Amino acid sequence: MKVEARSTLLEPTAIEEGWQDLRATIWAFPWSRVDHGERAWSKLTCGPVLDLFDRLVKGTAEQGKTLLREVARTLAAELSDESRVTVYEYLYRVFLGELVERHLVHGGLKGCERLLKRRASRILSDASQTGSFPTFDQDEGLIAALCCAGQYVPLHTYHAHLTGVPRSILARTRGADAVRLLAYLAFHMRRFSPVLELHMPKTLRQRLTVEQLTEDYLAASQIIGANPSIHGTYGAAWFFDPVLRTITPSLGEVLAFTAANGALIVCLGTDPSTVADATAKSRTRRQMYEDGTYVPKRYLRLWARRRILQWAKTQTRPGGPQ
Ligand SMILES: CC(C)(COP(=O)(O)OP(=O)(O)OC[C@H]1O[C@@H](n2cnc3c(N)ncnc32)[C@H](O)[C@@H]1OP(=O)(O)O)[C@@H](O)C(=O)NCCC(=O)NCCS
Repeated sequence: MKVEARSTLLEPTAIEEGWQDLRATIWAFPWSRVDHGERAWSKLTCGPVLDLFDRLVKGTAEQGKTLLREVARTLAAELSDESRVTVYEYLYRVFLGELVERHLVHGGLKGCERLLKRRASRILSDASQTGSFPTFDQDEGLIAALCCAGQYVPLHTYHAHLTGVPRSILARTRGADAVRLLAYLAFHMRRFSPVLELHMPKTLRQRLTVEQLTEDYLAASQIIGANPSIHGTYGAAWFFDPVLRTITPSLGEVLAFTAANGALIVCLGTDPSTVADATAKSRTRRQMYEDGTYVPKRYLRLWARRRILQWAKTQTRPGGPQ
C-alpha cells in the first residue's frame, strides 16, 4: 500500500527508517580530519567531549549557547585556523553521532526524524562545499549543535522549541488587539501551552520570502499533526508589522500570507532589540527610523493548531512535503 509521506511520520517503521537514513547520511560523509581534530581537542582545557555534549543535553538552550560560545573562544585562542577546522569537524562528528545513537528529539516530539535528517544533510553538504563546519561563535553553529542535543527542532530556516505563550503578553497589548488576543486564546488556541515557538536565526543570509516561510510552516504543521498535545505556534517579529506593506512591500507579503491563513497578529510595542533587528539590514528603514518616520514594533503571531493544519492540507504536493 502506498502511504503518503506526511502520514507515515506516525508509523514506528518510518521513525526507525528516519534514524537509519540519518545514520547513513552521517556515515557517508568523508570525515577525513576527525583523528587530527580529536588529538587537538584532547590537548585543550575543555574536558571530555561527551561531558560537554551531556551538559548541552541536560541544561537549557541558553546555558548551552553560553557553553558553546566559551568553547568557541577557547578554540580561537588556543588553536591555529587549520587545527580549529579539524576540531569542529570532530565535534560535529561526535554530536551528530550522539544524536542518532541516543535518538535525541526535543521534548520527545514525534515526526521530527526527517527534519533532523534534512538539517544534518544541509550541514554536511555545506561542509563539503566550504571545507568547514559552522563555528560556535555564530548563530548557525549554535543552532546546529543544540538541534543535535535535542534542545531545538530544525524546521526550514526557522528552528522551534516547545513552550507556553507567556501570560505577560496580555499586559503588552492594547485596545482592540487585547480583545482579539483574548478571543483567539480562548476560542482557537484554547490553552497557553504547550505551543511550538518558532525562532529565526539572527544571521539569516537569504531574503525572507513567502516560499521560504511556507516550507517552515509546513515543517511546523508536520510536527503539530504528529503531536496532538500541541495547541499551535507562537512567535514574535518586527516583520509582521502592517506598516511594512508600504515601507518594505516584500515583507508586507510575508505578513499578508500568515494573516490570510488564520493566524492572529497583534502589536506588542517596541524595545531596543526590535529596533536593532528591524534596522540591521535595510538602509531605508534605518534612515526612516533616524528621521522619526518609522518606529519598529514587535508583533505577536499565534497560529492555532486547527487553523495551521487546515492551511497545510491545502499545500499538499505530490509525495508530501520534503
Ligand atoms: C529578517 C531578514 C532576514 C529579512 O531580510 P530581507 O528579506 O532581505 O528583507 P529586508 O527588507 O530586511 O532587507 C532587504 C534589504 O537588502 C537589500 N537587498 C539585498 N539584496 C537584495 C536583493 N537581491 N534584492 C533586493 N533587495 C536586496 C534591499 O535593498 C533592502 O534594503 P532597503 O530596504 O534599504 O532597500 C533581515 O531583515 C534580517 O536579517 N534582519 C536582522 C535579524 C532579524 O531581524 N531576525 C529576525 C528576528 S525576529
